[in-house]
Amino acid sequence: MSQVNEIDMTQLPRHIAIIMDGNGRWAQEKGENRLFGHYQGVESVRDIVEGCAELGVGYLTLYAFSTENWSRPETEVQGLMELLAQTIRQEVPTLNKNNIKLKLIGNIEKLPGYARDGLLEAVDLTEDNDGLTLIIALSYSSRWELVHAVKEIARDVKLGKILPDQINEETLRHYLATSSVPDPELMIRTSGEYRISNFLLFQLAYAELYFTDIRWPDFRKQHLFEAILNFQQRQRRFGKTGEQIRRESATDTH
Ligand code: FPP
Repeated sequence: MSQVNEIDMTQLPRHIAIIMDGNGRWAQEKGENRLFGHYQGVESVRDIVEGCAELGVGYLTLYAFSTENWSRPETEVQGLMELLAQTIRQEVPTLNKNNIKLKLIGNIEKLPGYARDGLLEAVDLTEDNDGLTLIIALSYSSRWELVHAVKEIARDVKLGKILPDQINEETLRHYLATSSVPDPELMIRTSGEYRISNFLLFQLAYAELYFTDIRWPDFRKQHLFEAILNFQQRQRRFGKTGEQIRRESATDTH
């Protein structure tokens, strides 16, 4: 029996976030340059997006380029920008055919013009779709996002739109790049590193974390299904006791 049949479709994570790591190592292990790994990584992106759409996952966030990635060698940064812009532009018909809506989070202003324009156009062309929302984190870091949100809140306080005493968790959430998106319930990181790397620090507060040694270019639907099955075996307690959770779910089913 294929693993997909073991997944409980009523308990799917509503939002999956992925740190796609290991492209460079994958390529170097094959005696190729790092960009070759990023190109192969696109195949994994296609497979995982398709897998999420087929299952009916609501939101998928992919960490494609961090604020810190700007300090990589110029050739790698430029190669990645071209790859991202070209891939997204090419994929628009497929996104539309599969009812997938594209969303970008991050400091998009920093991207070179050709990449920014192509990506924003793809967002526009898919905005009416209401199936899977595919969120690409680009020039993104959580600390950047939080600083940006705090600046916006300070501006609105100054304009008298909100009072400092009214600021709560929901206010902050509203000013984040992910304001219209539920928090990820499952976060996957590939390639054997056990870090969050400045990714969705506020939003991942209660996410289940799943780490695998598989390098991103080798990551396929079957690995996604394994991660979801593992997620479904966990008891999510949100600070409560196991006993409380068991009692609540017994009441829910009656
Ligand atoms: C991390 O591997 C990967 C990235 C920084 C880039 C990810 C980008 C893609 C897969 C391109 C396509 C993406 C989309 C959304 C179309 P790494 O370079 O840090 O690997 P290493 O840790 O082995 O050096």
